[in-house]
Amino acid sequence: MAQYLISLPALERNARLLHEVACASGARLLVALKAFSCTTGLKAVQPYAAGCCASGLYEARLAARHLGGHVAVYSPAYREAELAELLEFAHHIDFNSVPQWQRWRSTCLAHPRVQSGELQLGLRINPCFSTGHTAIYDPCVPGSRLGIPADQLQGVELTGISGLHFHTLCEQGAQELIDTFRAFEKQFGSLLASPQIRYLNLGGGHWITKPDYDRAALISLVREIREMYHVEVFLEPGEAWAIHTGVLRARVLDVFESLGYRHAILDVSASAHMPDVLEMPYRPDVFALSPGGTGTPALALPGEQYSAAGKAGEKAYTYRLGAPTCLAGDVIGDYSFDHPLQVDDTIILDDMSHYTMVKTTHFNGVPHPDIAVLHADGHVQVVRTFSYADFESRLG
Ligand SMILES: Cc1ncc(COP(=O)(O)O)c(C=O)c1O
Repeated sequence: MAQYLISLPALERNARLLHEVACASGARLLVALKAFSCTTGLKAVQPYAAGCCASGLYEARLAARHLGGHVAVYSPAYREAELAELLEFAHHIDFNSVPQWQRWRSTCLAHPRVQSGELQLGLRINPCFSTGHTAIYDPCVPGSRLGIPADQLQGVELTGISGLHFHTLCEQGAQELIDTFRAFEKQFGSLLASPQIRYLNLGGGHWITKPDYDRAALISLVREIREMYHVEVFLEPGEAWAIHTGVLRARVLDVFESLGYRHAILDVSASAHMPDVLEMPYRPDVFALSPGGTGTPALALPGEQYSAAGKAGEKAYTYRLGAPTCLAGDVIGDYSFDHPLQVDDTIILDDMSHYTMVKTTHFNGVPHPDIAVLHADGHVQVVRTFSYADFESRLG
């Protein structure tokens, strides 16, 4: 069977680095469960994390059950029952739009946990400052639904708001964060400086565990913000906790030539198991199990050796790696290998534990729609509903 394989020591290695940044900067580092939510894996990071960033009720419950610590929730929109439950145990609830804040303001302010300060409320703002290169991952693109631009805050009743939150980066360095913070500061600096604001959440997208990430620059920015604005600073990376910690191991089911291409059908699908490959789109690094090979995927098993696949035509044998599904475009890409592929060969798809896995379960913990049927008499019968248990049961 195909297998997502995750290294607990590698997760711990990342977690230690992130913990060092937290200790040196005074920031509180949360795990963005939207990027990684394998429950067994969370045990490895739990001692180093301040808590979690949840995209809604399901991820918040998951954090409370498997991670502990601070639960910061942000969702583009809350359902009534969801918010009612979150009010009982979350520590931050951030709102995405002025109408969401206005809709839920009185409910929140009436809650004893808000009144006691145990639960704080914030707004996700949009500094409209793009530093990324891929529109699908850029919350600052024109027409974005994510976060409140400065002009929309004019005249809004903000009593009860004690936090500001922005998330604009994706796989980026400290300089992009610094540039974004300066743009944010120009637009929201006076609000940030007002005594009502007690926390600033700098979102995720920080590639802190990459070897060339400028951690010193991040630490000095966080210190500056804390000293100047007297706020608690939160960072909620996802990918940084889980990058280079896991692979997807696949098997070759068939090899054949057709219409001028050599095809290898794997037992995994881009569409079903690696949607980013089609969405972004991106090309994963691929390795073949190969005695004498010198490649190093994110997770190498003892006694195994690997050789890295090349671009099409680079090595002697080029294959189009495709899925066992009906979708014509369900193709991982064209890769070349030193040796001909054979049925039952193992293919390693590299660095697949962040995002890839959660996208095949319930992305962001968004509850799965019910399944219902319409009968001839016009009666609609719900035949299956999905619960939190369905979500959690898929997370390993
Ligand atoms: C609001 C928010 N916070 C945190 C993250 C985590 O980002 P990353 O995994 O890139 O660090 C995301 C990712 O989309 C996000 O939308």
